[in-house]
Amino acid sequence: MRSSFLTAALALLGCSKAAPLEKRAALTQVTNFGSNPTNTLMYIYVPTKLAANPPIIVAIHYCQGTAQAYYQGSPYAQLADQYGFIVIYPQSPYSGTCWDVSSKASLTHNGGGDSNSIANMVTYALSKHNGDTAKVFVTGSSSGAMMTNVMAATYPELFAAATAYSGVPAGCFVSSSGQVDAWNSTCASGKVNATPQYWTNVVKNMYQGYTGSRPRFQVYHGSIDTTLYPPNYNESVKEWTGVFGYNYLAPQTRKANFPHSGYTTDIWGVTTANPLGTVQGIYALNVGHTVPING
Ligand SMILES: *[C@@H]1O[C@H](CO)[C@@H](O)[C@H](O)[C@H]1NC(C)=O
Ligand SMILES: *[C@@H]1O[C@H](CO)[C@@H](O)[C@H](O)[C@H]1NC(C)=O
Repeated sequence: MRSSFLTAALALLGCSKAAPLEKRAALTQVTNFGSNPTNTLMYIYVPTKLAANPPIIVAIHYCQGTAQAYYQGSPYAQLADQYGFIVIYPQSPYSGTCWDVSSKASLTHNGGGDSNSIANMVTYALSKHNGDTAKVFVTGSSSGAMMTNVMAATYPELFAAATAYSGVPAGCFVSSSGQVDAWNSTCASGKVNATPQYWTNVVKNMYQGYTGSRPRFQVYHGSIDTTLYPPNYNESVKEWTGVFGYNYLAPQTRKANFPHSGYTTDIWGVTTANPLGTVQGIYALNVGHTVPING
């Protein structure tokens, strides 16, 4: 009696005793994604129920992080199960596992740095899974947020939008001696203060001659961040409002206590066709270096 009830229930759920539940998709390493100048590791999460032309999110870990840690510590894989998109989790090849956001190679389109390796992962996944080239996104936390800024600057043609949690502007963590994967304490401590025009030139020089579209950009930063100090918030906002030609001192919309109590969201570039705007700055009062991911 009980067993036949169970059989009926399983049948209703589309299961049978003979065929066990299909194993849920898992984080998987991809080793042959194409040219990989810095030996960056590629991990991918492809949900069981994949959309026909799946969007792709590149989710980039923090220093001392791994693909596995960011996979477990961020909401993207669960959301991928729900919506059918793909997540790429790149993993830094360096000891300390911060990203190279300091060398000329990584700060240049097709320059042979980490950014180049990550761009090749995107191209591979788009082709392998028939991905939607108009819906490729990049995000990351801390060092991964720095890399998000760098990806948006060096590969603007690949991404529709970018979200950086507690990073620094692209080109802020440079190494004057050209060192790969260098720490830049001037930038980290918030002592770099430049004009929007300066940052705009920094971004444009990373991919000279490029005139196509650029990803919408969202900057999150906490007001009591003592790893990458809060002035990096304004510098990042100056960078992306500058690139799009908005006045960073005059956001079009300001929302208090949004998306959470104590957060302030400033938005530039709102139009009827683009109600969420083109640049968003989200400043989190009394939040430290770890701004919770708003999946
Ligand atoms: C740190 O970055 C700034 C630019 O953001 C640069 O002027 C400075 O030279 C860099 N520091 C080192 C030690 O390379
Ligand atoms: C950012 O710039 C604005 C305008 O100058 C200023 O009011 C604000 O205090 C700055 N925020 C930070 C975190 O430095």
